[in-house]
Amino acid sequence: MNICDAAFRLETRIVLPEEEVHLWRVELASVAKGEQRWEQILSGDERARAARFHFLRDRQYFTATRAVLRTILAGYLASNPADLVFRYSDTGKPSLSPGHVGSQLEFNASHSGDVALLAFAQGRALGVDVELVREDFDHEAIAGRFFSEQEQHQLAALAPAERYLGFFRCWTRKEAYIKAQGTGLSLPLHQFDVSLKPGDENALLSTRPDNTEAANWSLREVPAGDGYAAALCVRGGGWRLKS
Ligand SMILES: CC(C)(COP(=O)(O)OP(=O)(O)OC[C@H]1O[C@@H](n2cnc3c(N)ncnc32)[C@H](O)[C@@H]1OP(=O)(O)O)[C@@H](O)C(=O)NCCC(=O)NCCS
Repeated sequence: MNICDAAFRLETRIVLPEEEVHLWRVELASVAKGEQRWEQILSGDERARAARFHFLRDRQYFTATRAVLRTILAGYLASNPADLVFRYSDTGKPSLSPGHVGSQLEFNASHSGDVALLAFAQGRALGVDVELVREDFDHEAIAGRFFSEQEQHQLAALAPAERYLGFFRCWTRKEAYIKAQGTGLSLPLHQFDVSLKPGDENALLSTRPDNTEAANWSLREVPAGDGYAAALCVRGGGWRLKS
């Protein structure tokens, strides 16, 4: 589902069956033009956070992403976007406060460049990550710091022209797994391996020290548009993606 209109709104309730995971893509360059309307939907603390951004674009993109997130959540819950209350884990992962009817609803958000991805499921922890593919940094140095040995071997085996895209495939898959766990960087990045294979729908290769953990998650590439890499990680299997 793609949102590219600053006038985006949901007129009717939307249904999210337990066996589905919904992924929405937001084109921020157009959608953020509705800033004045979007900011009406935000809570006081979100407006205060928006006001602290140094750059106008960052403020507008944050405001639009939050407001669209609220609009879609309210669509699933048949409620008012501005009435939703979030709580935050110790590492900053937002979720719906208990007390919302249908608070089994899980979500996660990511933004990079001009794109935001918003993922939703019923009763399944999930994490999503999108990155604009850039080539203006030393990918080997960063990979040496953040990727497991196995992942560094996969990266080195790619043709040189493929390495930046491969780097971001790896990065987004690792990040989606971390975000699904909700633990932030307290989960050591060297203790799990992801695949760098294009289009992989089963990309969590191993977890350490307990390798049975890998079977508890589905990690896959998801489409985010030309020039972007993205991944989605969901607890459990047997779900299908609607995007
Ligand atoms: C939030 C975090 C988990 C990801 O940050 P990011 O990739 O810069 O940002 P994204 O746009 O993908 O995600 C941000 C969104 O995730 C959500 N989020 C915040 N903290 C989160 C957490 N601990 N877990 C899951 N989701 C979180 C929020 O909705 C946030 O949106 P907001 O900033 O508009 O409130 C960051 O705190 C982090 O730990 N990054 C690790 C970076 C790193 O070194 N990764 C190595 C990968 S190899």
